[in-house]
Amino acid sequence: MKFFIDTANLDQIREAEELGVLDGVTTNPSLMAKEGITGKNNILKHYVDICTITPGDVSAEVIGTTFDQMVREGEELAELHDQIVVKVPMIRDGVKALRYFSQKGIRTNCTLIFSPGQALLAAKAGATYVSPFIGRLDDISSDGLSLIAEIREIYDNYGFETQILAASVRHAMHIINCAKLGADVMTGPLSSIESLLKHPLTDIGLEKFLADYKKGNS
Ligand code: E4P
Repeated sequence: MKFFIDTANLDQIREAEELGVLDGVTTNPSLMAKEGITGKNNILKHYVDICTITPGDVSAEVIGTTFDQMVREGEELAELHDQIVVKVPMIRDGVKALRYFSQKGIRTNCTLIFSPGQALLAAKAGATYVSPFIGRLDDISSDGLSLIAEIREIYDNYGFETQILAASVRHAMHIINCAKLGADVMTGPLSSIESLLKHPLTDIGLEKFLADYKKGNS
């Protein structure tokens, strides 16, 4: 299972990279705005900065909503760096753009996936990744994890190579359950990745080991 970090914050990306378990980064316009990155040139430079911190895939989202706009923006983003994956929304023209990019060998991440039908369509259009937003489904009392299971079943039935990128991950149990269900990738905040390493018995056990060592070696 690949671990992506869902942020545009360079310090957090660096921290995750230093932990040694990072496979890539996902961003979106809201995450870029949160970091105060505005204006086309600054935005493009920020994507390149992210690519210099980590060697993995970096999802960069288009803003346009027509086929022509998405193609223009996506080609420019893909030209920036070979780690860039063009993030395209699941809308009618987005599906056409996915097909276009796939035929041109440009890798894509189809975002804002909330149903198995949308995931099927994205796979048929040749998306490299699909991003089902599990946390946002949970937020409206829907079951985000069931969506991961349904997409896994559909993709396995037909051997689709599109990777399931579980997005909008909020906590450790999301990650563990996505891993059990066979999601190829998860993307979440640094806190969700770090929460995997915590267990009170680990802390208690280590404290005792160190205290016992100290008794015998002081
Ligand atoms: C996916 O690529 C999105 O950036 C992201 O996971 C959305 O998560 P949120 O629901 O926490 O905003």
